[in-house]
Amino acid sequence: MQSFLVITLILSTASIVYTQPPSLQHASLESSNQFRANEIKNAFLYAFKGYKKYAWGHDEVQPVTNTTSDNYNGWGVTIVDSLDTMIIMGIEYNDSREFIKNLEFTVNNGSTKINVFETVIRYLGGLLSAYELTKDDLFLNKSIKLGNVLLPAFDTPTGIPMGMVDLVKKKGVHGGYGRNSVLADIGTLQLEFRRLSELSRNSKYLKKAQKVIDVLQRKSTELPGLYPVFIDPYTGNFTTTWVTWGGLGDSFYEYLLKQHIMIQGKTSQYIDMWMSAVKTTMEKLVYTAKGFPNLTYLAQWKNGKPFFEMGHLACFAGGNFLLAGKFLNNTSLTNLGLNVTATCYNTYIGTNTMISPEGFGWISPNSSYILRPEVVESIFYAYRVTRDPKYQDWAWNIFKSINKFCKTSTGFSGLNNVTSLINDWNNSQQSFFFAETLKYLYLIFSNTSLISLDEWVFNTEAHPIRIGGG
Ligand SMILES: *[C@@H]1O[C@H](CO)[C@@H](O)[C@H](O)[C@H]1NC(C)=O
Ligand SMILES: *[C@@H]1O[C@H](CO)[C@@H](O)[C@H](O)[C@H]1NC(C)=O
Ligand SMILES: *[C@@H]1O[C@H](CO)[C@@H](O)[C@H](O)[C@H]1NC(C)=O
Ligand SMILES: *[C@@H]1O[C@H](CO)[C@@H](O)[C@H](O)[C@H]1NC(C)=O
Ligand SMILES: *[C@@H]1O[C@H](CO)[C@@H](O)[C@H](O)[C@H]1NC(C)=O
Ligand SMILES: *[C@@H]1O[C@H](CO)[C@@H](O)[C@H](O)[C@H]1NC(C)=O
Ligand SMILES: *[C@@H]1O[C@H](CO)[C@@H](O)[C@H](O)[C@H]1NC(C)=O
Ligand SMILES: *[C@@H]1O[C@H](CO)[C@@H](O)[C@H](O)[C@H]1NC(C)=O
Ligand SMILES: *[C@@H]1O[C@H](CO)[C@@H](O)[C@H](O)[C@H]1NC(C)=O
Ligand SMILES: *[C@@H]1O[C@H](CO)[C@@H](O)[C@H](O)[C@H]1NC(C)=O
Ligand SMILES: *[C@@H]1O[C@H](CO)[C@@H](O)[C@H](O)[C@H]1NC(C)=O
Ligand SMILES: *[C@@H]1O[C@H](CO)[C@@H](O)[C@H](O)[C@H]1NC(C)=O
Repeated sequence: MQSFLVITLILSTASIVYTQPPSLQHASLESSNQFRANEIKNAFLYAFKGYKKYAWGHDEVQPVTNTTSDNYNGWGVTIVDSLDTMIIMGIEYNDSREFIKNLEFTVNNGSTKINVFETVIRYLGGLLSAYELTKDDLFLNKSIKLGNVLLPAFDTPTGIPMGMVDLVKKKGVHGGYGRNSVLADIGTLQLEFRRLSELSRNSKYLKKAQKVIDVLQRKSTELPGLYPVFIDPYTGNFTTTWVTWGGLGDSFYEYLLKQHIMIQGKTSQYIDMWMSAVKTTMEKLVYTAKGFPNLTYLAQWKNGKPFFEMGHLACFAGGNFLLAGKFLNNTSLTNLGLNVTATCYNTYIGTNTMISPEGFGWISPNSSYILRPEVVESIFYAYRVTRDPKYQDWAWNIFKSINKFCKTSTGFSGLNNVTSLINDWNNSQQSFFFAETLKYLYLIFSNTSLISLDEWVFNTEAHPIRIGGG
């Protein structure tokens, strides 16, 4: 989901020791869904309390030193990103609402330049979802204000948006990749901008977002349906041949499918594009480990040939294939999704981690884990689609590992080295831990009618958007 260049790993290796159930706890209770959902809610409350105590109004608390960080515009991203999870978990959110009421989208302790992608998925997605769940006007009004702040990014000759907006000059500026815009950035705002247009009854947001898809659809590429990750917003030319389902590419493909679901298949444009991408992926990029047919990896494509590395971010694809399998009634997509999900879960439990008869590797030799959600996200889809309790046990094992190794006295921290049993914390608690990781975990143990996949589609930051009209 995120287009970070820093693609980090996985809780790998056998060094992960699961916590035992507390001794007074009967195993049967510990395995009850209600108990597990409640433990996850408690983890949310614990982390939110630490944030409130030490960093209220800042983007994040640094959960080891009790200090603050403001890398996401300084607009209190933890508050906005976590809001719909609070609503879903039934947690009172008055202070968050009050904060958002006073929130102006201006330069505030952060940079004067804001990242369009991060602002859309965390803030705009969070606000729209809060509105859809509560129908509280405040959240819609703020969404509209924020949408307007983002529009200057699209003022380019091609309509391909720039990576950032300068809040002072009110102009689009380049993000961190030279003159390039990034495929995942330009293709991960269509759900939000569509819903914003529907709710505000102003088509301008959707028109800008749709232009991007139209421009891309007209391009022919080396691998049909798959697009290189860098594009020049002045010429519309691709400036690399690198194709990936991981960071920089990922959520562009995710959103093609989800746009189709959101509009209930009213046009075939998005699903045609998605199907074409997946067909080519199956032909050229899906690899299975010899002797382990269920270990299914997604390769990348570089310099005219497959490149055998896969990162944690690409693990979202398991869930994306499962979602497609469900909506299109396509068993081969469902099976591919289950296989990719199982492969990614294997990186957590440590068996076969580096198995690579095909020379497969996981990005990178680095072993940090930053509370990312993609694997529990795919496990969430696997559970919802199959209802097989095995997936609940997988999710619970992951939660127990996070609880054991990432919990600090103030919240939960990313790890520098997952193979180390000492607490090698990196002092960062990303807002997606509240928005995604804990939300998907909670939903895995909740009634499947809570945020049903027949009624909601998740943005790439796990903010639910209602299927059908806004
Ligand atoms: C901005 O940072 C300053 C200095 O750290 C702090 O005093 C102020 O409260 C911050 N403002 C907000 C809205 O967080
Ligand atoms: C951070 O806060 C927690 C909880 O209030 C406290 O236990 C811990 O000692 C604090 N850490 C530092 C580095 O001040
Ligand atoms: C939160 O706000 C609601 C609605 O305004 C109010 O009914 C409730 O009493 C508030 N709760 C707290 C704890 O302030
Ligand atoms: C939202 O905006 C509408 C229209 O401008 C206004 O009538 C309404 O009072 C606003 N609601 C809130 C909660 O700010
Ligand atoms: C880039 O695109 C322009 C206009 O579409 C085209 O004329 C030009 O040849 C392209 N440049 C490269 C290097 O491909
Ligand atoms: C299922 O999806 C795959 C991959 O896109 C496609 O090749 C196949 O034709 C689909 N099967 C059916 C029955 O639609
Ligand atoms: C899905 O496909 C199965 C097997 O091909 C078929 O029995 C079933 O009726 C289909 N369901 C829908 C909703 O199309
Ligand atoms: C392999 O995956 C299929 C679904 O694609 C599943 O039915 C089967 O149980 C899996 N086998 C193992 C050993 O995990
Ligand atoms: C998934 O795994 C099963 C069981 O090992 C295998 O038979 C099947 O071919 C795999 N399917 C895909 C689409 O990878
Ligand atoms: C792994 O990479 C992250 C991000 O680049 C870095 O912060 C961390 O220190 C690295 N960890 C190790 C053990 O090298
Ligand atoms: C991570 O921890 C393991 C076990 O303590 C150690 O062997 C390894 O060198 C560490 N890796 C890095 C990059 O520090
Ligand atoms: C910890 O990980 C975050 C990503 O969540 C990264 O931005 C930050 O630089 C890392 N911090 C350290 C001290 O390595």
